[in-house]
Amino acid sequence: MHKYKLIGPFKQLLPMSGLPLKGALSDNQLPILENAGMLLENACIFKLGDHSELLSEAKSLQAEIISLKGDHVCLPGLIDSHTHICSGGSRANDYAMRNAGKTYLEIAKAGGGIWDTVTQTRKATKGELVKKTIKRAKQHLKNGVTTIEVKSGYGLSVEQELKMLMAIKEADESLPVDLIPTCLAAHMLPKDFEGSEANYLSEISEKLFPILKEEGLTNRIDAFIEESAFSPEQIARYFKKAKAMGFDITVHADQFSTGGSQVAVDFKAISADHLEASSSEEILLLANSAVISTALPGASLGLGCDFTPARKILDAGGALAIASDHNPGSAPMGDLLTQAAILGTFEKLTNAEVLAGITYRAAAALNLDDRGQLAKGFLADFCLFHTTDYNEILYNQGSFKPCVVWKNGEVVFDKHS
Ligand code: NIG
Ligand code: FE
Repeated sequence: MHKYKLIGPFKQLLPMSGLPLKGALSDNQLPILENAGMLLENACIFKLGDHSELLSEAKSLQAEIISLKGDHVCLPGLIDSHTHICSGGSRANDYAMRNAGKTYLEIAKAGGGIWDTVTQTRKATKGELVKKTIKRAKQHLKNGVTTIEVKSGYGLSVEQELKMLMAIKEADESLPVDLIPTCLAAHMLPKDFEGSEANYLSEISEKLFPILKEEGLTNRIDAFIEESAFSPEQIARYFKKAKAMGFDITVHADQFSTGGSQVAVDFKAISADHLEASSSEEILLLANSAVISTALPGASLGLGCDFTPARKILDAGGALAIASDHNPGSAPMGDLLTQAAILGTFEKLTNAEVLAGITYRAAAALNLDDRGQLAKGFLADFCLFHTTDYNEILYNQGSFKPCVVWKNGEVVFDKHS
């Protein structure tokens, strides 16, 4: 095993570094290194530069020289900051019913929706959930995604939420991709819980939160603030306890009705996700805060509803991440690059804004400062596309896949092998 590796030459390398976290980005702001090389030291980036200049340094460091044949564009490993890939069952029936005219909320009220997945997930063993999560994570990895956030939220009891979070941990341990776990026990009031929303949330915070800390299962707490789930007031009490215990906060906010983004700002959440229903008031509120706004185009495509007002968020000065929301109900597709490209088309986002949303701005949505950019000291997570021009990547709307994916300084996917 070599300590140092030199990879290149890349026709174009987009470091996605030195760019602002918030606000609009024009394509000419994107730094592009041509005929570049990347020198790695173990799992991290040691140096970027002109490939031929790096060659002599690499030789003196006795680096392994990995020479690429043909033209390649190099991007940071993509980051999917919001998914629900640990789940049982299928909701193909919900999808058919929605397309035949029923709404997501009508289906949920009739006993389908999230509760259906809860029933299927509770039936699954931890081992079955591990397998399903690994299978979906591998698919994301092939598409260039090297960090995936994964939520619980289909267990909805102390025991079943623990089963999910332990399954996510086990899947993470057997995969090269990093899974970042989040507790979404506040996804809805479970139908079999005897008591009010307040009682349920108290039980979770009193019994589950301490175990999450003790077992190191997650440091992130999420909640679905919506008329069909929990009110802003109920979640404010819940988040107060989570914050006091040192958890990071993230929110499913403003998906169908507003209220969630105010809670996100009040509790200094790391991110507020969905925002399809946000009006100019919420957009401004978020833009004037440190909360990352996360668009989930996969949920709009799955439900056939409006996209998150991404253009307005950026123009107001907000930070925009883009994630897949991959889940069996509202977002079954699970293809981040395709969805981000489509969001760009509908919302008139520059390629720089779309790429920022799935790299360094998505890292910020997970409170991670070691990835999402290619620069000295950052993780050597990157993906290569067989082309001379980075614009080809979004132009092909996700049908153009990476040929090689690297994670922590190792090749973890190679189309040719
Ligand atoms: O992010 N909105 C709530 N939660 C998920 C959907 C989960 C489901 O329908 O199973 C979401 O879209
Ligand atoms: Fe979600």
